[in-house]
Amino acid sequence: MKIILLGPPGAGKGTQAAGIVEKYNIPHISTGDIFRKNIKEGTELGKKAKEYMDKGLLVPDELTVGLVTDRISQDDCKNGFMLDGFPRNVSQAKYLDSFLQKTNIALDKVVNIEVDKSILVERAVGRRICKSCGATFHIEFNPPKENGVCDVCSGELYQRADDTEETVSKRIQVYLDETKPLVNYYTSQGIIANINGQQSIEKVFEDIVDALGSEK
Ligand code: AP5
Ligand code: MG
Ligand code: ZN
Repeated sequence: MKIILLGPPGAGKGTQAAGIVEKYNIPHISTGDIFRKNIKEGTELGKKAKEYMDKGLLVPDELTVGLVTDRISQDDCKNGFMLDGFPRNVSQAKYLDSFLQKTNIALDKVVNIEVDKSILVERAVGRRICKSCGATFHIEFNPPKENGVCDVCSGELYQRADDTEETVSKRIQVYLDETKPLVNYYTSQGIIANINGQQSIEKVFEDIVDALGSEK
Protein backbone atom coordinates (compact mmCIF):
# COMPACT_ATOMS: atom_id res chain seq x y z
CA MET A 1 0.00 0.00 0.00
CA LYS A 2 1.49 3.32 -1.09
CA ILE A 3 -0.23 6.21 0.62
CA ILE A 4 0.02 9.95 1.12
CA LEU A 5 -1.59 11.53 4.20
CA LEU A 6 -2.76 15.04 3.49
CA GLY A 7 -4.37 17.56 5.83
CA PRO A 8 -3.84 20.80 7.72
CA PRO A 9 -1.69 21.11 10.87
CA GLY A 10 -3.47 19.34 13.72
CA ALA A 11 -5.79 17.37 11.40
CA GLY A 12 -4.68 14.08 12.95
CA LYS A 13 -2.16 12.85 10.36
CA GLY A 14 0.39 11.64 12.93
CA THR A 15 -2.32 10.18 15.17
CA GLN A 16 -3.85 8.16 12.31
CA ALA A 17 -0.44 7.25 10.89
CA ALA A 18 0.30 5.15 13.96
CA GLY A 19 -2.69 2.86 13.29
CA ILE A 20 -2.24 2.78 9.51
CA VAL A 21 1.43 1.70 9.53
CA GLU A 22 0.61 -1.03 12.03
CA LYS A 23 -2.34 -2.36 10.04
CA TYR A 24 -0.62 -2.29 6.65
CA ASN A 25 2.89 -3.00 7.95
CA ILE A 26 4.53 -0.14 6.03
CA PRO A 27 7.09 2.48 7.09
CA HIS A 28 5.85 5.88 8.30
CA ILE A 29 7.78 8.63 6.55
CA SER A 30 7.09 12.01 8.16
CA THR A 31 9.20 14.89 6.87
CA GLY A 32 8.33 16.85 10.03
CA ASP A 33 9.65 14.00 12.21
CA ILE A 34 12.81 13.72 10.07
CA PHE A 35 13.48 17.46 10.48
CA ARG A 36 12.82 17.34 14.24
CA LYS A 37 15.22 14.41 14.60
CA ASN A 38 17.88 16.40 12.75
CA ILE A 39 17.26 19.43 14.96
CA LYS A 40 17.65 17.27 18.07
CA GLU A 41 20.90 15.80 16.74
CA GLY A 42 22.21 19.25 15.76
CA THR A 43 22.93 18.34 12.10
CA GLU A 44 23.43 20.94 9.36
CA LEU A 45 20.03 20.01 7.90
CA GLY A 46 18.47 20.44 11.33
CA LYS A 47 19.98 23.90 11.78
CA LYS A 48 18.70 25.06 8.40
CA ALA A 49 15.24 23.47 8.81
CA LYS A 50 14.76 25.00 12.29
CA GLU A 51 14.94 28.55 10.91
CA TYR A 52 11.84 27.87 8.81
CA MET A 53 9.95 25.57 11.19
CA ASP A 54 10.15 28.03 14.09
CA LYS A 55 8.42 30.60 11.87
CA GLY A 56 5.78 28.14 10.66
CA LEU A 57 7.13 28.31 7.10
CA LEU A 58 7.88 25.45 4.73
CA VAL A 59 11.46 24.23 4.64
CA PRO A 60 12.78 24.93 1.09
CA ASP A 61 12.14 22.20 -1.48
CA GLU A 62 15.85 21.65 -2.16
CA LEU A 63 16.32 20.49 1.45
CA THR A 64 13.23 18.32 1.38
CA VAL A 65 12.53 16.46 -1.87
CA GLY A 66 15.79 14.51 -2.09
CA LEU A 67 15.53 13.14 1.41
CA VAL A 68 12.06 11.77 0.68
CA THR A 69 12.98 10.10 -2.61
CA ASP A 70 16.12 8.63 -0.98
CA ARG A 71 13.95 7.21 1.78
CA ILE A 72 11.40 5.74 -0.66
CA SER A 73 14.25 4.07 -2.53
CA GLN A 74 15.21 1.99 0.50
CA ASP A 75 14.37 -1.72 0.63
CA ASP A 76 11.74 -1.50 3.35
CA CYS A 77 9.59 0.67 1.06
CA LYS A 78 9.38 -1.96 -1.72
CA ASN A 79 5.95 -3.18 -0.58
CA GLY A 80 4.61 0.17 0.42
CA PHE A 81 5.06 3.31 2.47
CA MET A 82 3.10 6.12 4.02
CA LEU A 83 4.13 9.72 3.45
CA ASP A 84 2.95 12.10 6.20
CA GLY A 85 3.45 15.81 5.52
CA PHE A 86 4.92 15.35 2.04
CA PRO A 87 4.28 16.62 -0.58
CA ARG A 88 3.38 20.02 0.77
CA ASN A 89 3.14 22.16 -2.36
CA VAL A 90 2.55 21.57 -6.06
CA SER A 91 6.24 21.61 -6.96
CA GLN A 92 6.98 18.85 -4.41
CA ALA A 93 4.04 16.84 -5.80
CA LYS A 94 5.34 17.19 -9.36
CA TYR A 95 8.84 16.18 -8.25
CA LEU A 96 7.40 13.12 -6.50
CA ASP A 97 5.28 12.19 -9.53
CA SER A 98 8.25 12.29 -11.87
CA PHE A 99 10.32 10.18 -9.44
CA LEU A 100 7.49 7.63 -9.12
CA GLN A 101 7.07 7.45 -12.90
CA LYS A 102 10.78 6.88 -13.42
CA THR A 103 10.85 4.12 -10.83
CA ASN A 104 7.54 2.55 -11.91
CA ILE A 105 5.79 3.07 -8.61
CA ALA A 106 2.07 3.91 -8.46
CA LEU A 107 0.39 5.59 -5.50
CA ASP A 108 -2.68 3.75 -4.22
CA LYS A 109 -4.41 6.56 -2.35
CA VAL A 110 -4.11 10.07 -1.04
CA VAL A 111 -5.97 10.21 2.28
CA ASN A 112 -7.13 13.78 2.84
CA ILE A 113 -8.15 14.41 6.46
CA GLU A 114 -10.55 17.36 6.55
CA VAL A 115 -10.90 19.47 9.69
CA ASP A 116 -12.43 22.91 10.05
CA LYS A 117 -9.92 25.72 10.52
CA SER A 118 -11.63 26.86 13.74
CA ILE A 119 -10.58 23.81 15.78
CA LEU A 120 -7.05 23.28 14.44
CA VAL A 121 -5.33 25.75 16.77
CA GLU A 122 -6.89 24.13 19.85
CA ARG A 123 -5.80 20.70 18.67
CA ALA A 124 -2.18 21.71 18.05
CA VAL A 125 -1.72 23.88 21.14
CA GLY A 126 -3.05 21.09 23.41
CA ARG A 127 -0.90 18.40 21.81
CA ARG A 128 1.68 16.56 23.90
CA ILE A 129 4.20 14.09 22.45
CA CYS A 130 6.28 11.39 24.12
CA LYS A 131 10.02 12.12 24.13
CA SER A 132 10.83 8.41 24.00
CA CYS A 133 8.34 6.75 21.63
CA GLY A 134 6.67 9.66 19.82
CA ALA A 135 3.12 8.73 20.85
CA THR A 136 0.73 11.69 20.51
CA PHE A 137 -1.76 12.86 23.14
CA HIS A 138 -3.99 15.87 23.70
CA ILE A 139 -4.52 17.43 27.13
CA GLU A 140 -8.28 17.51 26.55
CA PHE A 141 -9.23 15.34 23.56
CA ASN A 142 -6.90 12.39 24.14
CA PRO A 143 -5.36 12.80 27.59
CA PRO A 144 -2.74 10.43 28.97
CA LYS A 145 -3.78 8.48 32.09
CA GLU A 146 -1.21 10.34 34.15
CA ASN A 147 -0.46 14.01 33.49
CA GLY A 148 2.80 14.47 31.52
CA VAL A 149 3.52 10.72 31.29
CA CYS A 150 3.22 8.49 28.19
CA ASP A 151 0.64 5.66 28.43
CA VAL A 152 2.67 3.49 26.07
CA CYS A 153 6.18 3.65 27.54
CA SER A 154 6.01 5.93 30.64
CA GLY A 155 8.25 8.45 28.82
CA GLU A 156 8.07 12.17 29.47
CA LEU A 157 5.62 14.21 27.37
CA TYR A 158 6.66 17.50 25.74
CA GLN A 159 5.15 20.27 23.63
CA ARG A 160 6.47 20.96 20.11
CA ALA A 161 8.32 24.28 19.70
CA ASP A 162 6.01 25.24 16.80
CA ASP A 163 2.80 24.51 18.71
CA THR A 164 2.27 28.04 20.00
CA GLU A 165 -0.94 29.80 18.99
CA GLU A 166 0.94 32.28 16.82
CA THR A 167 3.03 29.72 14.92
CA VAL A 168 0.10 27.34 14.46
CA SER A 169 -1.93 30.17 12.91
CA LYS A 170 0.91 30.85 10.50
CA ARG A 171 1.18 27.13 9.65
CA ILE A 172 -2.56 27.02 8.90
CA GLN A 173 -2.20 30.00 6.53
CA VAL A 174 0.76 28.33 4.81
CA TYR A 175 -1.35 25.18 4.47
CA LEU A 176 -4.21 27.12 2.84
CA ASP A 177 -1.90 28.96 0.44
CA GLU A 178 0.54 26.20 -0.51
CA THR A 179 -0.71 22.75 0.47
CA LYS A 180 -4.48 22.85 -0.05
CA PRO A 181 -4.10 23.10 -3.86
CA LEU A 182 -2.90 19.49 -3.67
CA VAL A 183 -6.47 18.40 -2.93
CA ASN A 184 -7.43 19.40 -6.49
CA TYR A 185 -4.15 18.07 -7.85
CA TYR A 186 -4.84 14.54 -6.51
CA THR A 187 -8.61 14.73 -7.10
CA SER A 188 -7.86 15.16 -10.78
CA GLN A 189 -5.62 12.06 -10.60
CA GLY A 190 -8.64 10.17 -9.22
CA ILE A 191 -6.85 8.80 -6.15
CA ILE A 192 -8.09 11.02 -3.33
CA ALA A 193 -10.16 9.82 -0.37
CA ASN A 194 -11.70 12.68 1.62
CA ILE A 195 -12.11 11.76 5.27
CA ASN A 196 -14.08 13.69 7.90
CA GLY A 197 -11.45 14.35 10.58
CA GLN A 198 -13.95 15.85 13.03
CA GLN A 199 -15.04 12.55 14.49
CA SER A 200 -13.55 10.41 17.24
CA ILE A 201 -9.99 9.17 16.57
CA GLU A 202 -11.40 5.62 16.27
CA LYS A 203 -14.12 6.59 13.76
CA VAL A 204 -11.63 8.53 11.61
CA PHE A 205 -9.44 5.40 11.53
CA GLU A 206 -12.41 3.21 10.52
CA ASP A 207 -13.24 5.55 7.64
CA ILE A 208 -9.61 5.53 6.47
CA VAL A 209 -9.48 1.73 6.49
CA ASP A 210 -12.78 1.63 4.58
CA ALA A 211 -11.28 3.92 1.95
CA LEU A 212 -8.02 1.98 1.70
CA GLY A 213 -9.49 -1.51 1.76
CA SER A 214 -7.99 -4.40 3.69
CA GLU A 215 -5.50 -5.40 0.98
CA LYS A 216 -1.87 -4.79 1.96
P1 AP5 B 1 4.64 18.49 10.45
O1 AP5 B 1 5.34 17.84 11.56
O2 AP5 B 1 4.26 17.71 9.28
O3 AP5 B 1 3.41 19.26 11.06
P2 AP5 B 1 1.96 19.64 10.44
O4 AP5 B 1 1.70 19.27 9.04
O5 AP5 B 1 1.82 21.07 10.79
O6 AP5 B 1 0.99 18.71 11.13
P3 AP5 B 1 0.98 18.34 12.62
O7 AP5 B 1 2.01 17.31 12.92
O8 AP5 B 1 0.97 19.59 13.43
O9 AP5 B 1 -0.50 17.73 12.75
P4 AP5 B 1 -1.04 16.25 12.54
O10 AP5 B 1 -2.00 16.30 11.41
O11 AP5 B 1 0.05 15.25 12.48
O12 AP5 B 1 -1.88 16.11 13.87
P5 AP5 B 1 -1.73 15.10 15.12
O13 AP5 B 1 -2.11 13.72 14.73
O14 AP5 B 1 -0.44 15.28 15.81
O15 AP5 B 1 5.53 19.73 9.93
C1 AP5 B 1 6.11 20.63 10.82
C2 AP5 B 1 6.97 21.63 10.06
O16 AP5 B 1 8.02 20.93 9.37
C3 AP5 B 1 6.25 22.44 8.97
O17 AP5 B 1 5.62 23.59 9.50
C4 AP5 B 1 7.42 22.78 8.03
O18 AP5 B 1 8.16 23.86 8.54
C5 AP5 B 1 8.28 21.53 8.10
N1 AP5 B 1 7.94 20.54 7.04
C6 AP5 B 1 7.44 19.29 7.21
N2 AP5 B 1 7.26 18.69 6.04
C7 AP5 B 1 7.64 19.57 5.08
C8 AP5 B 1 7.65 19.54 3.65
N3 AP5 B 1 7.22 18.46 2.94
N4 AP5 B 1 8.12 20.63 2.99
C9 AP5 B 1 8.55 21.72 3.66
N5 AP5 B 1 8.53 21.83 5.00
C10 AP5 B 1 8.08 20.76 5.71
O19 AP5 B 1 -2.94 15.65 16.03
C11 AP5 B 1 -2.92 16.96 16.59
C12 AP5 B 1 -3.59 16.94 17.97
O20 AP5 B 1 -4.98 16.64 17.84
C13 AP5 B 1 -3.02 15.86 18.90
O21 AP5 B 1 -2.94 16.36 20.21
C14 AP5 B 1 -4.05 14.71 18.82
O22 AP5 B 1 -4.11 13.98 20.02
C15 AP5 B 1 -5.34 15.48 18.55
N6 AP5 B 1 -6.28 14.72 17.71
C16 AP5 B 1 -5.95 13.96 16.62
N7 AP5 B 1 -7.08 13.42 16.08
C17 AP5 B 1 -8.12 13.89 16.83
C18 AP5 B 1 -9.55 13.69 16.76
N8 AP5 B 1 -10.11 12.92 15.81
N9 AP5 B 1 -10.31 14.33 17.69
C19 AP5 B 1 -9.74 15.10 18.65
N10 AP5 B 1 -8.41 15.32 18.77
C20 AP5 B 1 -7.62 14.72 17.86
MG1 MG C 1 2.17 15.31 12.49
ZN1 ZN D 1 6.10 6.87 24.93
